[in-house]
Amino acid sequence: SLSLPPVIAIDGPSASGKGSVAERVAKQFDFHYLDSGALYRLLAYAAHTQHVAWSDATSLAAIAAGMDIRFAGGEVYLNGGQASAQIRTEHMGKGASEVAVHPQVRTALLQTQRNFRQAPGLVGDGRDIGSVIFPDAVLKVFLTAAVETRAQRRYEQLIARGEFADYNIILEDLRQRDLRDSQRASAPLKQLPDAILVDTTHMNITQAVDMIVTAFNKVA
Ligand code: DC
Repeated sequence: SLSLPPVIAIDGPSASGKGSVAERVAKQFDFHYLDSGALYRLLAYAAHTQHVAWSDATSLAAIAAGMDIRFAGGEVYLNGGQASAQIRTEHMGKGASEVAVHPQVRTALLQTQRNFRQAPGLVGDGRDIGSVIFPDAVLKVFLTAAVETRAQRRYEQLIARGEFADYNIILEDLRQRDLRDSQRASAPLKQLPDAILVDTTHMNITQAVDMIVTAFNKVA
């Protein structure tokens, strides 16, 4: 019989620790890993370099359809060039959230994401992995934390990188991002009824990873 490789979908708001958690869960099972947010960030970045507005849905969809995206060795490449540092900025995070509201953009990136489903399995993180990209995921996780906790973690990350950071600005940006990502009409972020809740407000990365690994071992 035809059976597709299993998917673990990890969705949640910005700065919830999804990336670190998802990457470690993938390592644990030797699964592939899809950082779907990176695709929206790459699109925001590509548009920015081509002077295309983040509101221009038609042009954005055309750019998205032509992007050559590669992940290798923990780095991301766009059309052959390193883009990891460029897309990890607060500016491109905001841009990603803005380009992501357009249904044409989401459609243009759909197949790219589904192509990551390869044996022996996939861990994908984002906003709509369990709802739209892989609704048949064997395990769905809603990974979240209090917005103040997420702001504090993001603040510490930026400071550790030697970048400027203002806690109150980060908190306000996160609130706006949460609103935009969860109130949009197309594939909004939401906690699915069939998802397990992992709230990392009082949890470290290891504990969150362990919860997800245990849950997957039960359903796999
Ligand atoms: O996970 P992240 O912070 O890198 O995502 C950046 C933005 O991309 C996020 O604010 C909304 C958008 N996004 C999305 O709409 N759907 C996804 N599956 C992943 C990200």
